[in-house]
Amino acid sequence: MKIPFGTITVTEKSKELIGRALAANRLSSGKYVREFENEFAELVGVKEAVAVGSGTDADALAVAVLHDYGAQRGDEVIIPSLSFVATGNAILQAGFTPVFVDVDRKTLNIDTAKIEKAVTQKTKAIMPVHLMGKPADMDTINAIAKKHNLLVIEDAAEAHGAVYKGRNAGSLGDMGAFSLYVAHIISTVEGGIVTTNNPDFAEVLRSLRSHGRACKCESCVLNTASAYCAKRFRYGENEDIRFIFERIGFSSKMNELEAAVGLGNLEVYDAILNKRRENLYYLIENFERFVPCLVTIKKETYEEIGPHALPIIIQEKAKFTRTQLVNYLEKSGIDTRTLFSSMPTQCHGFGYLGHKIGDFPNAEYIGENGIHIGVHQDLGRQECDFILNTIEKFLQNHA
Ligand SMILES: Cc1ncc(COP(=O)(O)O)c(C=O)c1O
Repeated sequence: MKIPFGTITVTEKSKELIGRALAANRLSSGKYVREFENEFAELVGVKEAVAVGSGTDADALAVAVLHDYGAQRGDEVIIPSLSFVATGNAILQAGFTPVFVDVDRKTLNIDTAKIEKAVTQKTKAIMPVHLMGKPADMDTINAIAKKHNLLVIEDAAEAHGAVYKGRNAGSLGDMGAFSLYVAHIISTVEGGIVTTNNPDFAEVLRSLRSHGRACKCESCVLNTASAYCAKRFRYGENEDIRFIFERIGFSSKMNELEAAVGLGNLEVYDAILNKRRENLYYLIENFERFVPCLVTIKKETYEEIGPHALPIIIQEKAKFTRTQLVNYLEKSGIDTRTLFSSMPTQCHGFGYLGHKIGDFPNAEYIGENGIHIGVHQDLGRQECDFILNTIEKFLQNHA
């Protein structure tokens, strides 16, 4: 049996829309992108969604919005020390300094008891990550943010379908940033999207994704219909709005072909989500028997986990290494991925910030002992049982 890590569903609707876009020769950001944004906003339960080029850009642009609200280059954003490296990269790309807080080993998410100690005069925002789709402790995070007058930007890259106390991930803070890369539940192949209830933030995001232009329309008439743009010279004679740059921007628009894949994906979203959730919860329920050697995350009654993947952490009691487990799973046909690293101490690029091994013990432990495996829609009960039986056999051989 082969259990690949991820999959993508490209529907007949996507293929039809791609064909139509190609036939009309309208490929850069246009009506399909706008349609995708509207549907995504509705799904998450927010007023606005702004599509961008990647999940990393979604993080970076959301943070870059802060410059319009008085933030200075070098101001700080608090993030968990354990995440996919994109979270830290995005903070730096937006012109901020990441301030790392260790995670809780049980939830994999930022340890909220340690956040306040990391707040300084320069802190402008907290960016929790719902790692592996498990919602971060948003009540506590929002309360700390309120007390210190900070914005909350959710890194919801892996949290499609995650629900916290009745509300969807991406609607729990001031902005939410999703990845739409192929490994994620809703995909546009490559892509990202920022969700918010604040129309002013959405306007700034639309400018940021297009080089910081003064243009902030939801859909550009020049791109969609080659029509006359009444706003183009509104700043005065010889002042073209498309060449007035109000802020330092990014080049991060989604194109029509990507939006077409996403629109088709949204049509089957419920079925994909249910299948993945069924797989994840079945694996979690049956994981108890591997304790104390291996653990995964737990589902609380007030949440739904976004079924991104199944995290597995090797515990101190285990008599085997991660490499041994990974080799066994891979040889048995089960794809694995490392469960990320402590960005400040295990990712070389962040070395210049001066952190040292031992500063983030929980993130570092997971960085050395964590893996994750797929729970996607092409897997069913038979494949989940195969995963569980394979792990069981491995443990019997390493008791
Ligand atoms: C937590 C987290 N943040 C950000 C990203 C970046 O997304 P992308 O790969 O679309 O740039 C990812 C990617 O999977 C991620 O897992």
